Amino acid sequence: MKIVVTGGAGFIGSNFIFYMLNKYKEYEIICVDKLTYAGNLSTLKTVMDNPNFTFVKADICDRETIYKLFEDVKPNIVVNFAAESHVDRSIENPDIFLQTNIMGTAVLMDACRKYGIDRYHQVSTDEVYGDLPLDRPDLFFTEETPIHTSSPYSSSKAGADLLVLAYHRTYGLPVTISRCSNNYGPYHFPEKLIPLMIANALNDKPLPVYGKGENVRDWLYVEDHCKAIDLIIHNGKVGEVYNIGGHNEMKNIDIVKLICKELNKPESLITYVADRKGHDMRYAIDPTKIHNELGWLPETMFADGIKKTIKWYLENREWWEEIISGEYQNYYKKMYENR
Ligand code: NAD
Ligand code: TYD
Repeated sequence: MKIVVTGGAGFIGSNFIFYMLNKYKEYEIICVDKLTYAGNLSTLKTVMDNPNFTFVKADICDRETIYKLFEDVKPNIVVNFAAESHVDRSIENPDIFLQTNIMGTAVLMDACRKYGIDRYHQVSTDEVYGDLPLDRPDLFFTEETPIHTSSPYSSSKAGADLLVLAYHRTYGLPVTISRCSNNYGPYHFPEKLIPLMIANALNDKPLPVYGKGENVRDWLYVEDHCKAIDLIIHNGKVGEVYNIGGHNEMKNIDIVKLICKELNKPESLITYVADRKGHDMRYAIDPTKIHNELGWLPETMFADGIKKTIKWYLENREWWEEIISGEYQNYYKKMYENR
């Protein structure tokens, strides 16, 4: 079995590679990653010497290179994690989001059509459903919820999803799509809420909470997401969408306070800053379908997962300190200075 994993030098892709190499000793994993600001080869250092693992530096939008790779490797399965993934960056510059998230997906699927594939899996997001109001805790996103995006990021992911479904209907490409809620865990890039707050708190820097901090996200430990994708690519029905979520809704401000408590840092570090444009209020997944069809359930409780995650950031300081010492400084200044 040969699996091409795109975006494997990023947060979820790398965790998926570790999970799969550990679980399936006979599978070959080929990671294709452009190594953008979000991709780090150091993340993959523990698997670089694994004979079942190969790393290829390539852009999924580069048709020629991707075709050549498919011709050489002849993968059975493609799991596409490669994406521009940060909402705030998409608000500043939508272009690259359309390019990688939509055009890159098209190139990968064209390669699958040309060279044949048993399964093309698209890693999507609950953000394609837009948001839910805070005063309707009875509402959840199901696979039937209409696509209703808010940000250039979520629009580009929705565009890709629609293209994936069209390639299934028009060309019979054997596809599946998963739409997951917010992940957290090791190797999460420090521009995102949880790792940003951990890194800032450890450096006694202000903790910038957007708006009133009342926005709600449904947090899932990254390994539970990886397990769900493993189930979908092996047992999921072709042409289907599966929602993945932990029934673990939390307000941003409560997460930030929890991080302060765990790190023994004062809540006075919390600074309320200008809200994100078009900020989605609440995400909440109904994972009934994947539970009933594939037997998936989240296994890591948030209380344990956040402790594990904080411990990881404490024990792997060099990984994130290296990241936040480089180009990230300019990004941080631009996004947060005078906000
Ligand atoms: P990430 O930003 O940490 O990693 C993205 C990876 O893709 C990086 O290694 C980057 O170098 C690579 N990449 C970017 N453009 C590329 C290109 N043109 N060609 C090849 N590689 C490229 O993202 P993540 O948080 O790991 O998210 C992975 C996927 O999961 C994304 O598709 C995202 O939309 C989806 N998702 C993420 C979350 C979340 O909470 N992080 C939740 C649901 C879905
Ligand atoms: P983020 O991790 O960017 O994920 P997403 O926007 O895809 O859900 O943000 C999670 C929530 O945290 C979101 O409501 C925005 C908020 N947030 C802050 O309040 N401050 C920050 O510095 C960041 C990065 C996010």
